Amino acid sequence: MSQARALKAPTAHSTPALATEQVLRPEVNQAHVRFIGLGKTYPGQGQPALHGIDLNIRRGEIFGIIGRSGAGKSSLLRTINRLEQPSQGRVLIDQVDIAPFDENQLVALRRRIGMIFQHFNLMSAKTVWQNVELPLKVAGVGKPERQRKVRELLELVGLTDKHHVYPAQLSGGQKQRVGIARALVHDPEILLCDEATSALDPETTASILELLRDINARLGLTVVLITHEMAVIRDICHRVVVLERGAVVEQGEVWQVFGAPRHDVTRTLLAPLQARLPASLQASLRASPGSQSAAVVLRLQLVGEPQLSELFTDLGGTVRLLQGGIETIGEHALGQLILAVRGSPLGTAQLLERARRWAADVEVLGHVD
Ligand SMILES: Nc1ncnc2c1ncn2[C@@H]1O[C@H](COP(=O)(O)OP(=O)(O)OP(=O)(O)O)[C@@H](O)[C@H]1O
Ligand SMILES: [Mg+2]
Repeated sequence: MSQARALKAPTAHSTPALATEQVLRPEVNQAHVRFIGLGKTYPGQGQPALHGIDLNIRRGEIFGIIGRSGAGKSSLLRTINRLEQPSQGRVLIDQVDIAPFDENQLVALRRRIGMIFQHFNLMSAKTVWQNVELPLKVAGVGKPERQRKVRELLELVGLTDKHHVYPAQLSGGQKQRVGIARALVHDPEILLCDEATSALDPETTASILELLRDINARLGLTVVLITHEMAVIRDICHRVVVLERGAVVEQGEVWQVFGAPRHDVTRTLLAPLQARLPASLQASLRASPGSQSAAVVLRLQLVGEPQLSELFTDLGGTVRLLQGGIETIGEHALGQLILAVRGSPLGTAQLLERARRWAADVEVLGHVD
């Protein structure tokens, strides 16, 4: 993003502590959005929706926010363009605290930050072209420039031939493309997506994600994305934060968090991505071994590509692969194996210990006779 477009840091709001930190830790300058000690309590609510959030979103990354329903994801996202006002702490965009912004500064800020929604929020009585053009009209942009911009954006989102139709005549994916075009009219530097693909089928989701990835790469936009679909995070995000009851419980590179989740909430959220046992085996799983010869069933989450023969030898006994596969996140190979280990000289606890030498995360699923 050009220097000219970045808002000037108002000296009155820059604290000496912050200035010192920028000198000592130059990486904070990379932060496009910074939350510092952020808290939010809605009027009449006993529990805070957000508390103690310290988080950096880097310029040009696709940043995912996940968490259970009510964890505070939307509240956090909406503090970035001040649709929500924090109760404590600060939000810095390009090192500038946005809390003291007046109406005019807020309008300018919101033009730098596009937003797309689950239900598209299109005007049903306006055509595709008019929906995209409207924010430019409101901003007082002249007709030739408006036409140039709308044409360019409809081409970017692949809707040139639909410019004259009304939202009701569009598929969900096409509506979201209009939403994306409209969010980009002011050449924003940040794009906020609150469950932008949740109303779409898997194939359409994939095409919208491809578009977001393309926009991120081509325009260098920072994308902040909330979703309940873990596959979306896996497929397009660089980093991810996990919220629980308004606080950060885990954050990091997607391959690290998905490869070795540390928090129970993260494990629960990631469960849909986990390899499943065939139903017949699932039914025969027991919590404790029924006999001496029972097999222990383990789920291993691997980061990298270990030598399986060595792993199997290390576990001892006979090892049967029940389910497994390798996928790549970014440049990193992540594997999942479900193994049945029978006749190992190691007890269940020792087996777990041994498997942990090889895997980022290990779980005993049960025992089969
Ligand atoms: N306008 C509001 N007034 C009062 N409470 C609110 C308001 N908006 C959100 N909350 C509360 O704040 C908490 C966090 O809500 P938020 O919408 O941020 O969660 P979320 O993680 O986005 O959930 P979901 O996945 O269901 O969208 C919830 O307990 C919610 O009930
Ligand atoms: Mg929400």
